[in-house]
Amino acid sequence: MTTFWSWYITLLTLGSLLALLWLIFATRSGEQPGPTDQTLGHAFDGIEEYDNPLPRWWFMLFLGTLIFAGAYLLLYPGLGNFAGKLPGYEGGWTQVKQWQREMDKADAEYGPIYASYAKMPVEDVAKDERALKMGGRLFASNCSVCHGSDAKGAYGFPNLTDKEWRWGGDAASIKQTIAGGRTGMMPPQAAMIGEEGVRNAAAYVLTELAGRKLPEGETADIGAGQKIFASTCFACHGADGKGTPSMGAPNLTNPSAFIYGSSFAQLQQTIRYGRNGHMPAQLQYVGSEDKVHLLAAYVYSLSQKQPANEETLASE
Ligand code: HEC
Ligand code: HEC
Repeated sequence: MTTFWSWYITLLTLGSLLALLWLIFATRSGEQPGPTDQTLGHAFDGIEEYDNPLPRWWFMLFLGTLIFAGAYLLLYPGLGNFAGKLPGYEGGWTQVKQWQREMDKADAEYGPIYASYAKMPVEDVAKDERALKMGGRLFASNCSVCHGSDAKGAYGFPNLTDKEWRWGGDAASIKQTIAGGRTGMMPPQAAMIGEEGVRNAAAYVLTELAGRKLPEGETADIGAGQKIFASTCFACHGADGKGTPSMGAPNLTNPSAFIYGSSFAQLQQTIRYGRNGHMPAQLQYVGSEDKVHLLAAYVYSLSQKQPANEETLASE
């Protein structure tokens, strides 16, 4: 802020405080000690006001707030460009510095614990109760916004508690996913296979791969859809439609794990326009490799508890 505004704020603030201080003493000096029967001389509807001194507690409270204001302005930023003199904060207190101090403190406290887990294989950490509790807290603050607090995902965000993995469910792949993020790239197919082709391919995925039925009243050439799949889609989703984790191309035989829906209309939408699911790299947000390790163990543990695939909310 410019020097002018800095002084403007400083003088205005200090001036108001001094004026209040003056006011409280000035009005007090004329008072009689103790209650009087003298009135202030005005009446409203027959009600008059006695000219009694301010209650002592009120006076002290008023004084207290003034002292508090003075101390606050000395310690914290408030007076224009003056940054405050709070001990322990070089160059003045800021929210960011306070947050950083708390993080440093937490790192000093938990850092060695994270580090000791980081030396263990993810699979072993995933069996450690305390590690999972810590991992769960990291998940709640970093991942639940997208994957849900129960990690079961939502439309566009994969369920992390099932046995279906777009990018691989082994420890190393999960860790890689978390640290580096992932971008699924399904290019739009309409230009290549035509509108009719979109419809037939969707019907093929729905019936032959996903094992569901075409909706009542819909027709499509499933044989033609199969040919399209074998000539176009297989390159990414594999000849059997079971997916290719290295490309993030999902398994198309398990509709409960589809993140963009498994209805005939939604499948056509996906095939026609393509999809680009993006998970930003999390290392910078999570803060350290050791924490990513703990998170990977937590995510790994979620699907270990699951005996088999269950219906997910992402499906319909
Ligand atoms: C270049 C590789 C590639 C090709 C070719 C391709 N896909 Fe995909 N497909 C992907 C990827 C990667 C995803 C995941 C996109 C995402 O995560 O956002 C995907 C997602 C999908 C989904 C959504 C699954 C879900 O989770 O909701 C369907 C359905 C699908 N593809 C069907 C097809 C069909 C049918 C074809 C052929 C007409 C095809 N794909 C061709 C790579 C491909
Ligand atoms: C901004 C939203 C967002 C945040 C935050 C996020 N993710 Fe993701 N995540 C996604 C999306 C979207 C995908 C799917 C990417 C794709 O289309 O292939 C994904 C995929 C994944 C996968 C791969 C799932 C599979 O089937 O292979 C894992 C594991 C994962 N996330 C874990 C995490 C963890 C752990 C965190 C927290 C550190 C996290 N994610 C934070 C959006 C997010």
